[in-house]
Amino acid sequence: MDGLLTVEQQCFNVCYYAFYTLDRRDFEYYFEDPDSLFLAAVLDDRLVGYILGPVETWRRPPTAHIDSIAILPELQHKGIGSRLLQSFLTLARQQDCRGVTLEVSPANEAGMAFFAGHGFQKAHRLRNYYGKGLHGLLMAAPNHPQP
Ligand SMILES: CC(C)(COP(=O)(O)OP(=O)(O)OC[C@H]1O[C@@H](n2cnc3c(N)ncnc32)[C@H](O)[C@@H]1OP(=O)(O)O)[C@@H](O)C(=O)NCCC(=O)NCCS
Repeated sequence: MDGLLTVEQQCFNVCYYAFYTLDRRDFEYYFEDPDSLFLAAVLDDRLVGYILGPVETWRRPPTAHIDSIAILPELQHKGIGSRLLQSFLTLARQQDCRGVTLEVSPANEAGMAFFAGHGFQKAHRLRNYYGKGLHGLLMAAPNHPQP
């Protein structure tokens, strides 16, 4: 838990994510929720990143949603985020999810570039999603089985 909170505090210390930072109770919720995927990256016994979000089996077809992904700043750009995302997509496919969605701030250029590099496309503008005047962006990607 301390590792998760450290990653959270270091990665989302920006105004547009102020209301969306996860706290201890949020992480506990995802950890206990049987419908959520929650993966952590561990390096030398140290938690350095995570990805989490629900599998929405009630949708037709079922869809997974990435609520958050974060890697410690000093370890970004080393492929850890990509490995976590790929693992998340694989687990979602195993639960018949053929699509994945997420929200991101248009101010988060690194995040948008990361997701675009993994096949996510802009789907919808979310007005005032992060607070008044702080719009969000819904991105979506197909999640087909790998050849
Ligand atoms: C987005 C994030 C999870 C990516 O994790 P990462 O481990 O750095 O990603 P990878 O090393 O696997 O990067 C894969 C590719 O994504 C793109 N990318 C990642 N960070 C980028 C940046 N700062 N600027 C531009 N492109 C970037 C690049 O194409 C990169 O490939 P490259 O390193 O060969 O250039 C990480 O930057 C992060 O934790 N950001 C803060 C939290 C956040 O914004 N989360 C997303 C919103 S929920």
